[in-house]
Amino acid sequence: MEGNKMSDKKINIAIVGLSFGAEFIPLYQKHPNANMYAICQRNEDKLNEVGDYFNVEKRFTSYDELLEDPEIDAVHINTPVASHAPQVCATLEAGKHAASTIPMATTVEECEAIVKLVEETGLKYCMMETVLYSREFLYAKELYDTGELGKIQFIQGSHVQDMEGWPDYWEGFPPMHNATHCVSPMLGITGDEAEYVSCFGSGTIEEAYIAKYNSPFSIESTHIKFRNSDLSARVYRSLYGVARQYRESLDVYGSKKALEWPLVEGEDHVLHTRGKPEPEIAQRVKVPDYAHLLPKEIQQYTTKGVYDDDNTHLSFAQGAGHGGSHPHLAHQFIMALVEDKQPYPNAIEAANITCVGILAHESALRGGEIIKLPEFTLKENAGKAS
Ligand SMILES: NC(=O)c1ccc[n+]([C@@H]2O[C@H](COP(=O)([O-])OP(=O)(O)OC[C@H]3O[C@@H](n4cnc5c(N)ncnc54)[C@H](O)[C@@H]3O)[C@@H](O)[C@H]2O)c1
Repeated sequence: MEGNKMSDKKINIAIVGLSFGAEFIPLYQKHPNANMYAICQRNEDKLNEVGDYFNVEKRFTSYDELLEDPEIDAVHINTPVASHAPQVCATLEAGKHAASTIPMATTVEECEAIVKLVEETGLKYCMMETVLYSREFLYAKELYDTGELGKIQFIQGSHVQDMEGWPDYWEGFPPMHNATHCVSPMLGITGDEAEYVSCFGSGTIEEAYIAKYNSPFSIESTHIKFRNSDLSARVYRSLYGVARQYRESLDVYGSKKALEWPLVEGEDHVLHTRGKPEPEIAQRVKVPDYAHLLPKEIQQYTTKGVYDDDNTHLSFAQGAGHGGSHPHLAHQFIMALVEDKQPYPNAIEAANITCVGILAHESALRGGEIIKLPEFTLKENAGKAS
C-alpha cells in the first residue's frame, strides 16, 4: 500500500459506545482517508468527557438521532454484546455502512438479518475481530501464505478468561456464544469456512449462574469441520470456574513447520521444524510487528496505546493491546469503503464465524450432536440471502 498513490477520498465515520470504542477515535482522526465525524453514548457527561478530550465536535446521546445525520457514511459500533445486531441492522437500514465489535450477533436469526440487509442495500458490514489483525495472527498467516508451514494438517485454539467480577450480564454466559476470538483464527489462516460443528460441555459453573442463560458448562470444547477441505480444528472456551490466566491461542500444525502460541503471557512463540534433530525441532521465535502495512500516520499505534502520552486519569480509557490490531482494523474498514472492496471478515464470513459459536453451544446442550452451519453463512450462497 505504501508507495502507491492513495485516494484522497474521506469517509465520515461515527463511533457508538465509548469505553472500548474510544480507542479508535485517534486512529480515525489520523487516518488519511477518514474524518472522525461523530461520537455517541447515552450518558452525556461521559460523552462530553470523551468529546472534549479528543476534540470531537459532533456528539449524540441518542443513536436514533445519530442515524438521521446524512453526513455520516459509516458507523463503528462498540456497545455491549446484545446491542450489536440491532444497531447494525438499524445502521444499514439508515443507508450507512456498519462495523461492529465482536460478536456479530447472539442468534443465528440476527446473523441472517444482517447478511440479508447487506445484500439488499449493497452496503458493507465488517466484524472488527481484533485477533485477526493481531501481530501474532498476521505472523502465522504469513508463515502459511509464504509456504513455510507446508500443508496445514490441524489447527487448534482457545480463549480462556475468568469473568468473575465483570458486569453481571456476563454471569453464566455460554462460553461458545462469544467465541469469535478463538474461532476466527482457525478459519482465517487458510480462508476456509466452517461446514459443521460438534461441541462437548465439560464441568459445571456455580448454581446461581446456571439459571441465567440455562447453561451449566464451565468449558465448551468444539470440533469444527472445514467445508471442501480435509481440515478440522478444535477450540475450547471458558468464562467461569476455571483456574487459568487469560489466554488467546492458536496452534497451527503444518507438514513442514508448526507454530504454537505461548502457554503463558509474555513468553515467546514456538516454531517447530520437521526434519531437524529432536532437541532442535522447537525454537522460540520473536513475532514481528506489521506496522509497515499501515499508513504512516497511524503506524505508531501498533505498539503504543492511544493514551500513552497522557498521565491524567481518564474514566473511559481501557488501554491498548490486542496484538496491535486496532490501527489495522480501522485501516482495513476505511479502505474497504474508499476502494469499494469487501472488508474482512465481511457479513457472510462474520456470520460463519459467529454461528460456529452459537451452534456449538446448542450442540453441547444436545450432548455433542453434529450441527451444520446454515446456508446463508457460506460464500457460494452470496447474493441468495435476500
Ligand atoms: N478485543 C475485542 O475485540 C474487545 C475488547 C473490549 C471490548 N470488546 C467489545 O466491545 C463492546 C463494548 O465493551 P466495553 O467494555 O467498552 O463495554 P462498556 O459497557 O464499558 O461500554 C459500552 C459503551 O456503550 C455505550 N452504550 C450502550 N448502549 C448504548 C446505546 N443504546 N446507544 C449509545 N451508546 C450505548 C455505553 O454508554 C458505553 O459507552 C462489547 O461488545 C465487548 O465485547 C471487544
